[in-house]
Amino acid sequence: MITVLEYPREGEEAALQAHCSLWEYWSLEETKKSLLDPRYHLLVARATDSEPWVGSLLYWVGIEHGELLYIFTDPQHRNQGVARALFSHMEMQLQSLSSCKEICLEVRASNHAAQALYRTLHLKETRIRKKYYADGEDAVIFTKETRRQ
Ligand SMILES: CC(C)(COP(=O)(O)OP(=O)(O)OC[C@H]1O[C@@H](n2cnc3c(N)ncnc32)[C@H](O)[C@@H]1OP(=O)(O)O)[C@@H](O)C(=O)NCCC(=O)NCCS
Repeated sequence: MITVLEYPREGEEAALQAHCSLWEYWSLEETKKSLLDPRYHLLVARATDSEPWVGSLLYWVGIEHGELLYIFTDPQHRNQGVARALFSHMEMQLQSLSSCKEICLEVRASNHAAQALYRTLHLKETRIRKKYYADGEDAVIFTKETRRQ
């Protein structure tokens, strides 16, 4: 059973540090800096109450859209629905905001696992941003309309 909660922004730094150390793409410092801004939200997934986090998702709420900045599942807990649970939670939170019309994200062209996840979650590939990343790789932009509940 996967439980998803919003990171309380303080009091769980050891858990945040342990989780960020599994994930080189977005450091502890960058995550903490983002969370100083109230528009950023970190969702964390637990498999049981006592275990460390098994996944996380950072998103940002703009005026008319929400943007997924990263989604990560601990390699030992992949293919068990962790990312699906995290994404659904974010989607529910964005659906409750009347101004939010769309969810968007960008992903490396070579990240086939993440792209497969996004297609499963009914996001649509809308365009390519050529040489978007510092190493020259293209970004694929995915979007999904936010449906009101
Ligand atoms: C991409 C990632 C988040 C998927 O996490 P996950 O918890 O294993 O995904 P889920 O178990 O929730 O998968 C949900 C669906 O996505 C699809 N999917 C997930 N991983 C997949 C893979 N490696 N290949 C193909 N499809 C995949 C499947 O359709 C799956 O549905 P199913 O369970 O009905 O088969 C995980 O592989 C990861 O953390 N990768 C490294 C970080 C990353 O690249 N993040 C994205 C860019 S920020």
